[in-house]
Amino acid sequence: MISRLRWWQIDDLLPLEVDLFGPERWTAAMFWNELANGQRYVVATRGDEIVGYAGLALAPPDDAWINNIAVSRAHHRQGIGQQLLDHLLAAAREAGARQILLEVAADNGPAQRLYDRNGFEIIGVRRGYYQTTKTDALVMRLTLPDRLSYAKVEFSTEGRAGQP
Ligand SMILES: CC(C)(COP(=O)(O)OP(=O)(O)OC[C@H]1O[C@@H](n2cnc3c(N)ncnc32)[C@H](O)[C@@H]1OP(=O)(O)O)[C@@H](O)C(=O)NCCC(=O)NCCS
Repeated sequence: MISRLRWWQIDDLLPLEVDLFGPERWTAAMFWNELANGQRYVVATRGDEIVGYAGLALAPPDDAWINNIAVSRAHHRQGIGQQLLDHLLAAAREAGARQILLEVAADNGPAQRLYDRNGFEIIGVRRGYYQTTKTDALVMRLTLPDRLSYAKVEFSTEGRAGQP
């Protein structure tokens, strides 16, 4: 199940954060700050267990940044990462974002494939972005259709439906 991340779940997701991101991990305070700022965070659970989480930071008027997406190792390749990403993309669309951006480690093939298959494209490289490992980050972007295009599609569909 995917639901909104609540403050009382932060301590429970930290072990995943440590395991998956090591020296680049976020602290509890960083997650608290995101929730306090009203950013969109979701959590994936199996029963009582947190198996994944993801977060989106809006940068109005046009941008939304995917800050993190993480799935416990025991639950990789079960579609949870895709589900989390689907929720973030929906949240970005609802908020009226025109593009969704993210940074991903240049050596993180699994995450890059996830983003690539969802239409993200590499638009830049930040050299030595990750401070402890000095690994480069790729900047990836997904451009969303604007609201006017949605309106046109809806209008033309209605028009066709009325024809014989
Ligand atoms: C990246 C991550 C979130 C993917 O989560 P996941 O639940 O395993 O992903 P899914 O099962 O939804 O996979 C969706 C697609 O992503 C791609 N993918 C995911 N893991 C992959 C892997 N190890 N190798 C190749 N492709 C992979 C595939 O295209 C996959 O589709 P498929 O299984 O039909 O081939 C997960 O590997 C993770 O938590 N990694 C550590 C944290 C991290 O790097 N986060 C990203 C920071 S930018």
